[in-house]
Amino acid sequence: MASDFKELEELVMEDMRRVYSEQVIDHFQNPRNLGEIPDSDGFSTITGPCGDTLEISLRVRGDRIINANFWTDGCGPSIASGSMTTELAKGKSIAEARSITQNDIMNSLGGLPEENEHCALLAANTLHEAIKDYIALKKEPWKKGYRRR
Ligand code: FES
Repeated sequence: MASDFKELEELVMEDMRRVYSEQVIDHFQNPRNLGEIPDSDGFSTITGPCGDTLEISLRVRGDRIINANFWTDGCGPSIASGSMTTELAKGKSIAEARSITQNDIMNSLGGLPEENEHCALLAANTLHEAIKDYIALKKEPWKKGYRRR
């Protein structure tokens, strides 16, 4: 029974390797920075046209992102994209993080199948909105009290 399960697991992995890069599989199976930063300095949630939602929360100190987390209810590539996006954002200045693109995320993941490229776009857009939220709160910190999360 256990060996049947092992064989099935290996078949599933073989199928995944045919479609996804090692980096995508790694970030999908072992997502980095999963969860939400409580009382974050910048937060965004976007539901893409596919119906999947991705959230990013940021901890910023001195205009540098010292922590970035994500959550998604989406597909494997959206988990990998959220994971990689937060890894790319961490340690970057706000200006540097703003220029992280869909292509940067896809390249860091070793590419995505064409039908999953929008997953990286969702992650890039969510990061950019979280940065906008940070900038808006920096200008008007009192608005944080009206934020639901
Ligand atoms: Fe919706 Fe991947 S299919 S984010």
